[in-house]
Amino acid sequence: MAFTKKIFILVLSLPVVLGLVAPQKRALCPDGVNSAANAQCCSLFQVREDLMNNLFENECGDASHGALRLIFHDSVGIDPVVGGGGADGSILTFNATELTFPANAGIDDVLDDVGPFALKWAHVLSPGDFVQFAGVLSLAACPGAPKVKFMMGRPPPTAASPPNLVPQPFDPVPTILARFGSIGIEPQEVVALLASHSTAGADDIDPNLQGLPFDISPSTFDTQIFIDVQLRGTGFPGSGGNQGEVETAVQGTLRLQSDHLLARDSATNCFWQSFANNQELMMSQFAAAAFKMGLLGHNEADLIDCSDVIPQPPPFAGSPSFPPGQTITDVEQACSTAAFPDLPTQPGPPLVVPPIPQADDDDS
Ligand code: HEM
Repeated sequence: MAFTKKIFILVLSLPVVLGLVAPQKRALCPDGVNSAANAQCCSLFQVREDLMNNLFENECGDASHGALRLIFHDSVGIDPVVGGGGADGSILTFNATELTFPANAGIDDVLDDVGPFALKWAHVLSPGDFVQFAGVLSLAACPGAPKVKFMMGRPPPTAASPPNLVPQPFDPVPTILARFGSIGIEPQEVVALLASHSTAGADDIDPNLQGLPFDISPSTFDTQIFIDVQLRGTGFPGSGGNQGEVETAVQGTLRLQSDHLLARDSATNCFWQSFANNQELMMSQFAAAAFKMGLLGHNEADLIDCSDVIPQPPPFAGSPSFPPGQTITDVEQACSTAAFPDLPTQPGPPLVVPPIPQADDDDS
């Protein structure tokens, strides 16, 4: 047994012994505690500690959801025709302009939370790097999330994003897919990115209600969004009739029209369904698509890989299931080539999902 183990270790280390692969050297950082493959990443450990403890408070809550949303609203600000710098932090630096875009409703609250930290660490991270770093780091508080790679070195933004580049929840599916397609993001990647709506909620769709979760488990990066949105809608969490909102299946949650239509459109419905019962697939495709989105406007070769500063998020302990009281008969089957998985139903009476506490709730 021990002999087999020795051979195994020898085989594994042969490429290094033969000089085929350079052994991975890690620099001990000046703090004497952390180490990084690239010494230039060492300064990020102190930013990481500050954000995890003082911005996200080690929770997959409103502040981490906002930081995740911010990477999308910054990165998609680029277009082959009208320009824009992509993932450049322009949403921070030129917020006076970009906050006037209707699609950025609610981003003012995110900037209230994130902005002071971006300023505090401006000597370490450029605005574009800060947005990406905070966004991928926020996932470290969300069980089930993948680790998304982080690259550093984005130059400062030079101008605000042109308007009308961020998709809206009332846009038709072809409009949404064309917008993403123009910047090289394929329909399957769009659906994978929407895994982010599994740790998300709406503050600005229903004017009277805040923190309305998009699925029944907004503190977990699970596949529940791909299950809940495929169920037949039966009501609104509040008044209803708001632009960008359609009926939802579970009381207390809000369903975006865009999510609802992407789950049913023939261009995307099978991708949507493929994630419902496959946490690993969702994690790996989200991680790849989010990394790609964070490179919009940049060449990867110009940036430094600081991924080893990003912690591995905690694993997801549960398993995909229908919300209490719902079964496969409540699914609106859309994919024509495979049936929606027949999942177990969670026990208990029908849920009324509570709103997500807002980051500024405890300020008062
Ligand atoms: C089809 C494209 C998309 C549309 C139409 C869309 C729309 C929306 C809307 C309307 C909200 C609620 C805002 C509010 O009322 O507070 C929201 C929240 C959110 N979105 Fe998206 N989104 C899209 C894609 C993405 C992508 C690609 C990401 C990935 C990073 C993302 C991450 C989030 C997160 C994390 C929230 C929750 C923010 C919070 O709870 O504070 N979204 N999205």
